Amino acid sequence: MPGRIAGALERDFERFRREWPHDFAALVRSTYRVDLTGRYLGAVLPHPVGKGSGQLSLNEGQLEEDARAGLAFAVLKTLIAEDETGAQAMAAWAIHETRMAVERRAASDGRPGWTVTWKGRGWDRSLSDYLTLVRAGRDLTRAGRLLVVPSVKFHLPRLGEPFREAEYRHTTAALAAAWGEPPLLVEKDFSPTLAGDPLADDRAPILRWLKEVPRHIRRASPVPVRIAVKLLNARFDDDFQVEMMHATRDAESLVCFNRLFDPELGVAYGGWDLSNRNLRVLDLHRPPPSFTALDHPLVGTGNISSGRMILEYARRGCESVQLHTFFQLPLSEYAATHGSRTARVLHTLVFHPQDGLIAGLLELESRGEVERRDGELHFLDVARHAHRAG
Ligand SMILES: Cc1cc2nc3c(=O)[nH]c(=O)nc-3n(C[C@H](O)[C@H](O)[C@H](O)COP(=O)(O)O)c2cc1C
Repeated sequence: MPGRIAGALERDFERFRREWPHDFAALVRSTYRVDLTGRYLGAVLPHPVGKGSGQLSLNEGQLEEDARAGLAFAVLKTLIAEDETGAQAMAAWAIHETRMAVERRAASDGRPGWTVTWKGRGWDRSLSDYLTLVRAGRDLTRAGRLLVVPSVKFHLPRLGEPFREAEYRHTTAALAAAWGEPPLLVEKDFSPTLAGDPLADDRAPILRWLKEVPRHIRRASPVPVRIAVKLLNARFDDDFQVEMMHATRDAESLVCFNRLFDPELGVAYGGWDLSNRNLRVLDLHRPPPSFTALDHPLVGTGNISSGRMILEYARRGCESVQLHTFFQLPLSEYAATHGSRTARVLHTLVFHPQDGLIAGLLELESRGEVERRDGELHFLDVARHAHRAG
């Protein structure tokens, strides 16, 4: 990296420890000629960093803090679908649990990392409470401050059983009414605890869900809908993960891949085992010849705690990323000394002089992996290049 730019990056990293700038993506563009634009569910984002569904998107206060820090998007906690009588086929996922433990977890190769241990599952309050949160998210989205997207777990039948259409219809109609102006954006969660459930003991039912669930959501929705499918890490091999990606034809985004499941402890976990597995599978993935690049926009999730890791996902086709664990570390783990957790996370991810997004993109340029267009480096070119290679 030229000394002048390295010096500017060091200085920005230092000064933003104490005071996080208002529109950091614009600042990065004008100072470094780096365009961080990302994409999720067809929406253009100022940069690629979003929050994955979970305990960090349960209330309006959390969303407001994310908007203030300049996060690109937040996926709300997963709602468990219900029909008009309130019946939930997936009620086992609507259990209440508050205790979370942020713990160190070494990967199978011994590399130290972090995981969050938590026995809870989906949204455990009423549908009407969820709709209040969706309306708050809609207002932030309309104001252009933060793209907010609801997440749902709909009924997943055993092989041979029908889908409970009434749950799909009632829940999508309620979300569409709360959201207002179409299209409705929704993420469909296939969670890690599902991988530990007898429902997902066989490959055939999983492939059937991935083929059919988006169709059921589309048919049930009273308005046009854009669907992100968040794929589970199933308890099968890497090739099956790729098969799952190919089976999911009818989605606008594929989120790859939710946490691993530890059958002995009965909990989901993350850390380096998760990113190793996810990146390995994305390496194997080649869109089949019948796909165009646009058929399979990817979103990365899993063990992202640096700009470099964002670029590892981007080099394999991901146009944005969703983080959870990195927002939950002890404050002493962040370089920034002031500001919200969201701002401290963004500070490290973007401005770290060695491992941040700016430094990483400049390094990819020096290796000839990405080229300037009109004098600027573009984050999305990294993902685009991956598709060309595929
Ligand atoms: C405590 C906790 C709760 C989560 N809850 C959900 C959820 O309700 N729905 C979902 O799709 N993903 C959920 N996730 C998965 C995260 O959104 C994220 O995809 C995953 O943890 C991998 O990213 P990470 O390594 O940055 O944590 C949860 C993760 C954690 C740690």
